[in-house]
Amino acid sequence: MTASQAQTWHHGLVARWWAEFNLDGPEIEYFRRFVEAGQPALDAACGTGRLLVPYLLAGLDVDGCDISPDMLARASERAVREGLDPPNLYAQALHELDLPRRYRTIFVCGGFGLGGHRAHDVEGLRRIFEQLEPGGTFVLDNEVPYADVHLWQYWLEENRADLPREWRAEGDRRVGSDGAEYELRSRVASFDPLSQHATVEMKAAIWRDGRRILEEDHVLQMTLYFTHEVELMLRATGFVEIELRAGYEDRSPTSEDDFVVFVAKKPLA
Ligand SMILES: C[S@@+](CC[C@H](N)C(=O)[O-])C[C@H]1O[C@@H](n2cnc3c(N)ncnc32)[C@H](O)[C@@H]1O
Repeated sequence: MTASQAQTWHHGLVARWWAEFNLDGPEIEYFRRFVEAGQPALDAACGTGRLLVPYLLAGLDVDGCDISPDMLARASERAVREGLDPPNLYAQALHELDLPRRYRTIFVCGGFGLGGHRAHDVEGLRRIFEQLEPGGTFVLDNEVPYADVHLWQYWLEENRADLPREWRAEGDRRVGSDGAEYELRSRVASFDPLSQHATVEMKAAIWRDGRRILEEDHVLQMTLYFTHEVELMLRATGFVEIELRAGYEDRSPTSEDDFVVFVAKKPLA
């Protein structure tokens, strides 16, 4: 895989699903305080604007970027629907980030480790560092690898013999604003514990009157990172004053937490 071939499943019907059904969550209030404390801010891997649009509505100065033009189109549509000017959105992968502005805050919510391999993520952190103003703050959340029970079992060799998994007959279904039913089904295709890299496949469908009328296939490449690994990667990039917090609360993380949030600074000089 070359640098520009990062691959995520957040396109087409998956982008539509995000725009329809992923509108809230504790992350919105949690990340907001960092944006309020340092603008302009960049929502990196902003998706359909779950965090970005509420921040813009509150008058905060935030741009967005994401690898998926479909996710960005949904974000822009939502912003305009809610009475805002079209936001500054850039279709760029994190490892190719190159934007006209420097930011006092950059945050990544749910987007780290997606799309490619370890080298992409190392370069992504370097680009984020470059894109920050000196003294700027970087905030990143990371789901710990043992939080996902489906994926965790494939660290064991005997379980990897089952890969790729069979498709489930039925996935998660939700009724959209157009009255159609949207369905997502995913399966783990492969997992390599040495590189900590997984390939996960998705079938996204629309159902009407009990019939599946459209189906799309998507693939997500992802690398899983442990907490101290991310801390070391941030340090190696040049970040300082790295703090670890339980997601999405103001306390230190424990072994019971599924998400760890990293708050780090770019040095002043
Ligand atoms: C789980 S969604 C989170 C979206 C948004 N941050 C939120 O919390 O609602 C992950 C997002 O990361 C984007 N993404 C995946 N890989 C990426 C990459 N390598 N560079 C930039 N964006 C990426 C996807 O297109 C998707 O919009």
